[in-house]
Amino acid sequence: GLPSRVRIHEVGPRDGLQNEKGQVPTDVKAEFIHRLAAAGLTTVEATSFVHPKWVPQLADAESLYPRLSDIEGVHLPVLVPNTRGLERAQALGATRIAIFASATETFAQRNLNRSVAESMAMFEPVVAAAKEAGSHVRGYLSMCFGDPWEGAVPVPQVVAACRRLLAMGCDELSLGDTIGVATAGHVQELLAALNEAGVPTPALGVHFHDTYGQALANTLAALQHGVTTVDASAGGLGGCPFAKSATGNLATEDLVWMLQGLGIDTGVDLDALVATSAWMAGELGRPSPSRTVIALSHK
Ligand code: HMG
Ligand code: MG
Repeated sequence: GLPSRVRIHEVGPRDGLQNEKGQVPTDVKAEFIHRLAAAGLTTVEATSFVHPKWVPQLADAESLYPRLSDIEGVHLPVLVPNTRGLERAQALGATRIAIFASATETFAQRNLNRSVAESMAMFEPVVAAAKEAGSHVRGYLSMCFGDPWEGAVPVPQVVAACRRLLAMGCDELSLGDTIGVATAGHVQELLAALNEAGVPTPALGVHFHDTYGQALANTLAALQHGVTTVDASAGGLGGCPFAKSATGNLATEDLVWMLQGLGIDTGVDLDALVATSAWMAGELGRPSPSRTVIALSHK
């Protein structure tokens, strides 16, 4: 069976804009997030408190986050890699945070400048301090399916990393297909293995990049398995500057179109969302790759 309701975790302002070549003005980011919230998205990942030299695109987090204070009833999680990032986020009153681990050694080095073990050790005090402060903590796990340097990632390696993140105190996990190589059978296999290892399905979200056009099929496979949290990015923006061959996330509009067709409630106003992505495409100077955005903007 399929769930009756899905929570969309919108990542466009973070995963999308972190990958832009040019600098997107803070005003445009603030308007983007306001419009996403107005379109009915209940979780909008706003930015990252990472090293500004590593991700200059999000170096304006301190000036962006306070501009979102008038948004009500919408969660605005932020990424933090370490204690320094958590302190920066907490200084602005952020109460939902996400750490981001890697299932593979190569990506841990490229993205976090550390081994998997060292990065887990870096996250431990961050999660503890965030939980202590009453925050909700999401744990991303990248390269859950394939890694551009290491190839296919063994399921037991992913399961072990997920258990580690949950043991640390993460409230929810997001299974990242960073480079979009997953296929539906692999998704089912990983979810079954996680079940078997005692990981509760309600704690799982899925995070598919659409590099190979598989993101929707993979999402459907996850929904059939009982997953109800799905990450997506408005207009299909996105990628990861530290993973070669990573392109945009599953487009939120493509996801909403499929869910509407399945009679699954998301609370999202698709027309308002398409208008937002069309506006953002104008700001970025290139069309959205989302098939649904293209189809509905030409109606
Ligand atoms: P490092 O160079 O190893 O850091 O970077 P360090 O701990 O050695 O510190 C060096 C200096 O950086 C120190 O300053 C720190 O204070 C400063 P100094 O004392 O030399 O003057 N520093 C910071 N400054 C501001 N904010 C901070 C911070 N931390 C240290 N938070 C680090 C390690 C983790 C910081 C770095 O590698 C980093 O920022 N990485 C972020 C990479 C990133 O954001 N990647 C994209 C997000 S992940 C993703 O997109 C995947 C996902 O979408 C899921 C999927 O698709 O799979 C989530
Ligand atoms: Mg991503």
